[in-house]
Amino acid sequence: MKFIDLVQKRYSVRKYAETALDAADIQACLEAARLAPSACNSQPWHFIVVDDPAILPAAQEAAVGRPVAINKFALQAPVLVAVVQEKAKLSANLGAAVRGHSYAHLDIGIAVGQFCLEAAERGLGTCILGWFNEAAIRRLLHIPRSKRIPLLLTLGYPAADSQPTVKKRKSLDEMSSRNRYREKTQYE
Ligand SMILES: Cc1cc2nc3c(=O)[nH]c(=O)nc-3n(C[C@H](O)[C@H](O)[C@H](O)COP(=O)(O)O)c2cc1C
Repeated sequence: MKFIDLVQKRYSVRKYAETALDAADIQACLEAARLAPSACNSQPWHFIVVDDPAILPAAQEAAVGRPVAINKFALQAPVLVAVVQEKAKLSANLGAAVRGHSYAHLDIGIAVGQFCLEAAERGLGTCILGWFNEAAIRRLLHIPRSKRIPLLLTLGYPAADSQPTVKKRKSLDEMSSRNRYREKTQYE
């Protein structure tokens, strides 16, 4: 598959089939995340795959994000992945402080993007969740209190009637310029 076709294919899946996942597919998604670039190669992430029936229902409940339950679909996701923010290298933290950006968040975003694209290539669906009960996930997965969990992912085969979202995006002209800020892009 051409990369651009893969990028088109990926969408936020919010309806999942009950089909069990292959461990090899999950491992390939983790491998794609593992190879992501990061500031000073800090790799400030730890991915926890949650598929144990003893804790999955509680994790799904935490993913819903009550009281504003925007992620009810997470209740039928067969796998959840918690992304824990790990300590970055001192050089990355210094650079980030001087520049006033969170490089760790940027790094995690790239790794999660690569995870989701690998999943899409394998016919799996993902949805990135930024809204969820972080404290409940922390308790359930025994994550130390000192660590943040910026994102959760739902993972599974899309349900047969899952509809790809329409890609509503800014136009190329609006999101990019050539040589000067907001100067019209023109590529022949
Ligand atoms: C950082 C981040 C947080 C997100 N949080 C949620 C969320 O809590 N619930 C949800 O349904 N979608 C969430 N999304 C998915 C976006 O809504 C989705 O990516 C966007 O609307 C574009 O649609 P697409 O992924 O189908 O192309 C999140 C995406 C990102 C990158």
